[in-house]
Amino acid sequence: NTNLHPNVKTLLFSENEIKERVQQIGREITKDYQGSKELVLIGILKGSFMFMSDLVRAIDLPDTLVTLDFMSISSYGASTTSSGVVKINMDLKEAIEGKDVIVVEDIVDSGLTLKHLLELLQSRKPKSLATSVLLRKKEGLKVEVPVKYIGFDIPMVFIIGYGLDFAERYRELPYLGELKEECYKH
Ligand code: PRP
Ligand code: MN
Ligand code: MG
Repeated sequence: NTNLHPNVKTLLFSENEIKERVQQIGREITKDYQGSKELVLIGILKGSFMFMSDLVRAIDLPDTLVTLDFMSISSYGASTTSSGVVKINMDLKEAIEGKDVIVVEDIVDSGLTLKHLLELLQSRKPKSLATSVLLRKKEGLKVEVPVKYIGFDIPMVFIIGYGLDFAERYRELPYLGELKEECYKH
């Protein structure tokens, strides 16, 4: 692919591959939440912004009150591995008690961010709590975390684009790629 960013080693998922998978997840959610009164999609910033944006457009629930909320959490900072320390930078704007909730995440690696988050959200008594994650590094998991909707399982490579960053860069790329080692190893 001639249009790849020069710091991308290989293309992992093209814009079209992502689009197709996100459409499928949207259809699954549409089917599973028929009859839901109130569904809140919670995007975890910043990584999930692009996935969230495409996913909500693939959900078709005209008889459900569908709302969006966001939370900002960080565990990585400028490092390539999770610190395990999860910091809440911005909390939800609305209460989730009694509502169906889907947490939308770009990636689950160690699972620490999502596990911590699910415990926190569960304590707020939603009617149901599920997760939709675009990418999962199966070999990276340090804790068990339930993922209801999964886009792709990926190997232990440093992945960027489609919302995912390295030190805040590359989030804008429309595809998912592997970052060249020389860009993060010194
Ligand atoms: C990344 C990613 C997930 C989390 C996954 O976020 O977006 O939220 O780390 O890692 P874990 O499973 O090992 O906990 P990051 O903290 O880099 O913040 P960002 O979304 O703003 O990039
Ligand atoms: Mn994140
Ligand atoms: Mg990050």
